[in-house]
Amino acid sequence: WHPKLLKGQRVLITAGPTFEAIDAVRAITNMSSGKMGYAVARAAIEAGAEVTLISGPTCLTPPTAAKTIAVTSAQQMLEAVNKEIGETDIFISVAAVADYYVLNPSGQKIKKDAHILTLELAPNPDIVANVMNLPNPPFCVGFAAESENLYEFAEMKRRRKNLPLLAANMVQDAIGQEDNELILFDDEGTHPLPRAPKIVLARQLIAHVAKLYHHSGNK
Ligand code: C5P
Repeated sequence: WHPKLLKGQRVLITAGPTFEAIDAVRAITNMSSGKMGYAVARAAIEAGAEVTLISGPTCLTPPTAAKTIAVTSAQQMLEAVNKEIGETDIFISVAAVADYYVLNPSGQKIKKDAHILTLELAPNPDIVANVMNLPNPPFCVGFAAESENLYEFAEMKRRRKNLPLLAANMVQDAIGQEDNELILFDDEGTHPLPRAPKIVLARQLIAHVAKLYHHSGNK
């Protein structure tokens, strides 16, 4: 670990859940506290990076040294990422983006009655896949939260999204907790990071990102 690992690099991080409105008071969301993404932002700042944090709704205080952009929905997160991505050297997509949004959300609170209520859901854009499809993508890191078959699903996800690095965790080990366990997947194979506070894992992740990033021919 070295405090200058990412000196001068511009790192964009997404964190937290997204929140897809059903009506004026209700939404579909993911269980995500934002703690892992915020820890990654802190670790990147410690490593000397210029950090922009795009965050879905969380109860956390963002690091003061980061430029923070608060968003609600996946569509807003995509728009914020697209605005910032041109200035980005490394993109770390920690956010638990909702897979679907509600078509035609109601502006008013839906009143309950005895009938079955049907919601129509449409798939959200895949933000990290969009970034990887840019003509000159930054170095991209994905996250995967799985509830089973972690190794198989995480490596499939890394290949499908064409990511040089993906950090995977089990939802049972991670969500809302102070500690976590991560497994890093890259072209060399897997690198388990044993159970530790999220900030410790975030520092280890940033060290690994810096190594791959500098080896991939970047300054
Ligand atoms: O949801 P999924 O397991 O596919 O997420 C894997 C990675 O893709 C994560 O890094 C997540 O932030 C990103 N992702 C995204 N946009 C989505 C869904 C996931 O950027 N709509």
